[in-house]
Amino acid sequence: MEKREQLNAIRQYVTNSFNNERTGHDLYHLQRVSRMAMEIAREEDANLFRCEAIAWLHDVADHKLVEDEEAAIQALEEFLESLPLTRPDIEAIIKGINTISFSKSKVPTSLEGKIVQDADRLDAIGAIGIARAFTFGGARGKFMYHEQDNDNTIQHFYDKLLKLKSTLHTSTAKSLAEDRHQFMQQFLEKFHQEW
Ligand code: ADP
Ligand code: NI
Repeated sequence: MEKREQLNAIRQYVTNSFNNERTGHDLYHLQRVSRMAMEIAREEDANLFRCEAIAWLHDVADHKLVEDEEAAIQALEEFLESLPLTRPDIEAIIKGINTISFSKSKVPTSLEGKIVQDADRLDAIGAIGIARAFTFGGARGKFMYHEQDNDNTIQHFYDKLLKLKSTLHTSTAKSLAEDRHQFMQQFLEKFHQEW
């Protein structure tokens, strides 16, 4: 199977499991992360195939989305073997996926993993990031904002989203983050003003 066909099969694989996702990890999130990862990968001279594959697959074993992370990784590995992908490609992809999630707070060791982590984090900030945060918060029944209870979505900006800019690895992502970061700061300023 050619690389292009392998990527088509990978997209099909996630389409089946993410079609109905409503907490901000839907297919368009995967598409944006994939496009962004490719843009960064070209600038950073990374392996484009692995970057794209990791980007489409990066959320398949997220504990917020699946009950059994290990089973999800196992199923993915079997799927990749069935295509078949080469052993080094499979290992690079699985390793990338295992280190990307912020909640696991791991640092990917490969350039391709770092690039997809950057692309995923860029999708959590800026206008899209704001929309995703409130979508996620709403889906989990959180307060939009609360003066006594910290379990609210505005708090999530201070706990996580405003910190993401300084965790990026590549200079391409860092420069893309500036504008998005500023926009979130403006949003928070206005929000508190109107509140
Ligand atoms: P990752 O892909 O690194 O695991 P998450 O799944 O934690 O990232 O986050 C995915 C999206 O959901 C992000 O846009 C993030 O801001 C949002 N999100 C995650 N946790 C919360 C929360 N507690 N409140 C509001 N939004 C959240
Ligand atoms: Ni993601």
